Amino acid sequence: MLPPTTDGRPPVAEFAPLRPKPLDRGLMEVMLAEHTENAHLDVSLRVLHPAEFTIRADDLIDIYVAAMRYPPGSAAGRRNLWQEHSWRAGFGCIAAFGADGLPLAFCYGYTGQDGQWWHNEVRRGLTHQACAEWLDRYVELTELHVRPDCQGRGLGEQVLRRFLDARSERRVLLSTPEGENRAWRLYRRLGFQDVLRQHRFTGDPRPFGILGRRLPIDS
Ligand SMILES: CC(C)(COP(=O)(O)OP(=O)(O)OC[C@H]1O[C@@H](n2cnc3c(N)ncnc32)[C@H](O)[C@@H]1OP(=O)(O)O)[C@@H](O)C(=O)NCCC(=O)NCCS
Repeated sequence: MLPPTTDGRPPVAEFAPLRPKPLDRGLMEVMLAEHTENAHLDVSLRVLHPAEFTIRADDLIDIYVAAMRYPPGSAAGRRNLWQEHSWRAGFGCIAAFGADGLPLAFCYGYTGQDGQWWHNEVRRGLTHQACAEWLDRYVELTELHVRPDCQGRGLGEQVLRRFLDARSERRVLLSTPEGENRAWRLYRRLGFQDVLRQHRFTGDPRPFGILGRRLPIDS
């Protein structure tokens, strides 16, 4: 998960309050038609196709900024970037919605390919052998975020599992800032292993871990 800006500003402790927005009636009907109850929280998990992902982008960016404790307003540019991601081959998104119809968590990704910025940044840190092992038929888990007031209740794991269950690639790869936190605990619990540690992406001073594992997740 990469930062919203590339000017080196560190994240701060405050985050913007989430602004509930009324839900479009048509979308509500689709949600009710497709929802799956979550036993742990009163939520529904479902696929967001590219068109709805774009419609929902502002709400999802609010979750991203709040979850990552980025400064309010720091996500300028995300909208266009994420929309471009949604057009990529193999794009998939799972979102969790609360009873009020607002998204509480989401993850998305797409099939990794030569020429993509993230793929090229990771490849330059890998040996030839590691490239052949990891960068062949993988899905890049681009973002995974849970609204802060819903974290620590298993929702992130459920969204991630649902996302991975639908993938046909051989492997999943992701990047996450180095540190001991809930994200690392989740990825380790699901069997993600080190692909590359202390990696520096162009334009970001923070070290990242690149983690991966074979799919399917329960194999
Ligand atoms: C990382 C993140 C996605 C994990 O999602 P999450 O819903 O908070 O956490 P998980 O799904 O892993 O759930 C694990 C926690 O829920 C608890 N839990 C699991 N099932 C539960 C249940 N049914 N009821 C209550 N708690 C439960 C576990 O005890 C565990 O707690 P712990 O981590 O304190 O040990 C989320 O915390 C987040 O958005 N963090 C900030 C952004 C971020 O780091 N994103 C990833 C960047 S790469």
